[in-house]
Amino acid sequence: MPEHTHEIVPLIPRETIALRVAALANEIDGEFAGTDRLVLIALLRGAFMFAADLARAIKLDQEIDFLELSSYGNATTSSGKVSILKDIQTDIAGRDVLVVDDIVDTGHTLAFVLELLQARGPSKLRSVTLLDKPSRREVKTAADWTGFEIPDAFVIGYGIDYAQHGRNLPFVGMVQFKDK
Ligand code: IMP
Ligand code: MG
Repeated sequence: MPEHTHEIVPLIPRETIALRVAALANEIDGEFAGTDRLVLIALLRGAFMFAADLARAIKLDQEIDFLELSSYGNATTSSGKVSILKDIQTDIAGRDVLVVDDIVDTGHTLAFVLELLQARGPSKLRSVTLLDKPSRREVKTAADWTGFEIPDAFVIGYGIDYAQHGRNLPFVGMVQFKDK
């Protein structure tokens, strides 16, 4: 993306993210204590970095799988229509499952994922999201754990992109679009 069209305003520093990830992992360890082997399901691609850090902070025995969805819309707004691009390979029937998401915005994606996975008969299904924009919600859904509630701004970094840019930033920043 051309530099003159936008600027990135830091929102959540990497140290703050790391502290929150450790706290979330603690709560998750408590919730799933006694679980045979937890199944983490990270939503591609936005949650890959959060999932990588969270997985290392969770002390319980675990495996990890990936689910990629597409929502048809433009670069900064979702349309509410969700479909599966890459399904998980794990049979989750009778398993304890944690969905790891990047952002709950309108809520369509998380609602779709939870319904999809619930239908496969897990013994326990929980979800964690790094970010939540409650003011944008169109579908009544919420993750069981949220890293940070943020205002209605477009964010990038820590795995999250704007048209595939910015995923590698180690912090979360707001994209401020400028008029040319
Ligand atoms: P929802 O279905 O509207 O809740 O959209 C959730 C998905 O939209 C997230 O998992 C992201 O992939 C994407 N998304 C929502 N807000 C942002 C943002 O501010 N930056 C980048 N992607 C976003
Ligand atoms: Mg996503």
